[in-house]
Amino acid sequence: MNREDFPLLKQDIIYLDNSATTLKPKCVIDKMNDYYTNYSANAHRGDYDLSFKVDKEYEEARETVKEFINASSLEEIVFTNGTTESLNMIVRGFFENLLEAGDEVLITTSEHASNVLPWFRLVNKLGIVVNYIPLDDHYYVTLDNVKKAISDKTKVISLAGITNVIGDKRPIKEITEYAHKHNIFVVLDGAQMVPHTEVDVQDLDIDFLAFSGHKICGPTGIGVLYGKRELLEHLEPINLGGGMNESFDNPNEVYLKPLPTRLEAGTQNIAGVIGLGAAIKYLQSIGYDKINEHVHNLRKYLIDKLLPLKYIDIINLESDSGIVAFNVNNIFSQDVAYYLNKYNICVRAGNHCAKILKNSVGVTNTVRVSLYFYNTYEEIDNLVELLSNYDKIVKEMI
Ligand code: ALA
Repeated sequence: MNREDFPLLKQDIIYLDNSATTLKPKCVIDKMNDYYTNYSANAHRGDYDLSFKVDKEYEEARETVKEFINASSLEEIVFTNGTTESLNMIVRGFFENLLEAGDEVLITTSEHASNVLPWFRLVNKLGIVVNYIPLDDHYYVTLDNVKKAISDKTKVISLAGITNVIGDKRPIKEITEYAHKHNIFVVLDGAQMVPHTEVDVQDLDIDFLAFSGHKICGPTGIGVLYGKRELLEHLEPINLGGGMNESFDNPNEVYLKPLPTRLEAGTQNIAGVIGLGAAIKYLQSIGYDKINEHVHNLRKYLIDKLLPLKYIDIINLESDSGIVAFNVNNIFSQDVAYYLNKYNICVRAGNHCAKILKNSVGVTNTVRVSLYFYNTYEEIDNLVELLSNYDKIVKEMI
């Protein structure tokens, strides 16, 4: 679908690494080029037309994000450099001031490093406890297992909506409903979810959300931190500097601007913000229904073709996104990736930043194919043809 929108697809490349980052459509590239070429002034600082135009485009992108995730106000949308920065700001700026020694944060073993390491830091700094919600036989999170994992010390549940290796979708709405009855905060890592699923923050009732632009056909280096306004008001800025303060005469008289500007210190990634707005509009013009129908059909097609290959072990036969993680018997996953690269096929191999997942799955590294709407059945045929000859893989893998 929509392949003609993506300049990179004119190259002889089969791109199957969409969970790492998606390709960028021409409309997003053009929008950013337009900023750099025709009105590349700073935002929120100039009293001249060029700068007013920047402010307009920048704030329109915020409006687009607000509508996209159905936030209740523009103040709840903070631009960051990506999911990782958003999660670090949430943990350091909010929870570090709230949690105490012995308080418990629940995550899972399939979380990405960005949703593990900031919490680990609080284990070492504050003495909080990180515990893991057990995964079921398909490595899924169930509400029952969440209920079992919660204790009277649990203060936060922090989960990816969709994970980046298994590709499982979590029952976030049900989890949040239950968590809030027990006064537990819910943080949603939306990096892999937002590309595939509508995330309505009011309907899900989540407290914080983090996601990146580059996984939804937008630029790299731009992301979003959403927080309920009453919580964001208490999120202490990690970055202090220009743009976010009202005045500072001495250390005792520092006055910050209101949300969201208070949390956007320094010159922001203006082209990124504007490009993100264009990417969201682009995605909306296609629609999640069409995206997911195509991705799920492609995934099924790939699984059906891989299953007869007995030397291939698929880790996630069940998945709610376009991810297929597998291993080829007795061949290191990175060697499989190198082999496919010789034929211009891009896949990711390794642990995919989910380094404690091996504790549940028992497999450290995998080859990961991650699909998006511009992938085709022909591309899958090419991939499978190369994987169908075990001797060829062994011969050509390095
Ligand atoms: N988190 C990205 C991935 O899963 C980079 O590949």
